Amino acid sequence: MPKAPSSKSASQSGSIHKSSAKKKSHLLDSEYLEFLSNALVALNKSFEHLPEFKNDVPGSSRLDGVLTSAAERLRDNYPYFHPLYAGQMLKPPHPVAQLAYALAMTINPNNHALDGGRATSAMEKEAVAQIAAIFGWTKFLGHLCGGGTMANLEALWVAGQSAPAKIVLASSQSHYTHERISKALQLPFETIASDARGRLDLQLLETRLKQGGVGTVVVTMGTTATGSVDPLHKILVLRTKYNFRIHADAAYGGYFSLLENLEPDTQKSFAAMSEADSIAIDPHKHGLQPYGCGCILFKDPGAGRWYKHNSPYTYFTSTDLHLGEISLECSRPGAAAAALWATQKLLPLTKRGEFASTLAKGREAARALHQRLRADDRFLTPFAPELDILAFALRAESVSAASLLSREIFEAAAKRDLHLALADLPLHLFQTLPSTMKRDRQTITCLRSVLMKPAHFDWLDQIWERILASVTDIENSKIGVSRRNK
Ligand SMILES: Cc1ncc(COP(=O)(O)O)c(C=O)c1O
Repeated sequence: MPKAPSSKSASQSGSIHKSSAKKKSHLLDSEYLEFLSNALVALNKSFEHLPEFKNDVPGSSRLDGVLTSAAERLRDNYPYFHPLYAGQMLKPPHPVAQLAYALAMTINPNNHALDGGRATSAMEKEAVAQIAAIFGWTKFLGHLCGGGTMANLEALWVAGQSAPAKIVLASSQSHYTHERISKALQLPFETIASDARGRLDLQLLETRLKQGGVGTVVVTMGTTATGSVDPLHKILVLRTKYNFRIHADAAYGGYFSLLENLEPDTQKSFAAMSEADSIAIDPHKHGLQPYGCGCILFKDPGAGRWYKHNSPYTYFTSTDLHLGEISLECSRPGAAAAALWATQKLLPLTKRGEFASTLAKGREAARALHQRLRADDRFLTPFAPELDILAFALRAESVSAASLLSREIFEAAAKRDLHLALADLPLHLFQTLPSTMKRDRQTITCLRSVLMKPAHFDWLDQIWERILASVTDIENSKIGVSRRNK
């Protein structure tokens, strides 16, 4: 992380944000804004030779007021950046990503064609090659896209082009969009139930493969609900027998390939990723990027043939590859590429590097929280988290009562500024469900926590205290109700 100058040097250099420079901000340290103004000066040098022009900015006299109004509107948000926000997959973009995005946005390049985004297309190619290198790929085809859904759509689109009308198989715990994407692509889609750890069940997969007609198996490298990692290394063995494409949906978990102390099976699955036909990975999840940054990679650079098209408007300035020639989207933000490039320059994607250690910390937080939950017999936990996501519930007389309790704790925790999430999980993920607990529902609503910020580890005591206090709040309110009813 760039070291912020002391407040003395910021004010001496005449920062444009003098008045706010000393105010503490949870969001973006206002002293970093000085780095942005320095970078803008450097960027502007390229254009100084151009004749002056009158840059009328409509409404500029009202801009400050409108921006403050926007800030007031934006106050209606959960504090996603704070360690007490431990609900959904939300991680603050690194300041370098925020600043590089803002810097590039002043140019607003479009990475469709080199005509619209020369520098940022080169930055995208470099940044994507660094991501591909995580999986050992040096020759590949890949680009950035809007997010995980778009990346998965491109992967299944290429799969459908190479094996038309063949079935797409995914686990019942795979992201819900695979079914919808397959529908959009008019590809038949089927699910395979997950095993007790939320991973694609190998035996059921093989039974289905024997029946034939399968073109692609989607292997989820970190499910949305529980961070479970499908056994890719074992699915590769089935591929030699039944011949299908493998698309690794690593939108969430892909970066965990950089870690070396995962559970042995999980480690083997990640190590096998180089054998997948395509990989979706989201820099806007664990890659410290703002939303709008997904990435799709194909092992075979020949996948580019399916994208071939003529554009009567673009691709004129260079015979080099224009990224629009190999992506389904037309306009794409060059600023997203600049942000990713800058982030990876600051925090290279290396094993044992600073970036990898931040991922490891989130995972440690999830495992430590899981141990605390297991040690308290009021809680039910399905299995030890493979990554940094964990789900839990409370014991109750029935599954519906436990589900209700999860909702109550979710609300009580929010009142204590701890923001968790909820997820409906199939009962077979809870092997330790007491036999006395009435199974009056097929799924149990659990509390779910995504501990994806490294600060979650340091805040574990505070998170735990708030969980316990929220449980006590609910227990006390129930005692109060039963007393009043007597
Ligand atoms: C495993 C997985 N795949 C795909 C997606 C969809 O990604 P996006 O929300 O970036 O479109 C998600 C989102 O949570 C996910 O967890």
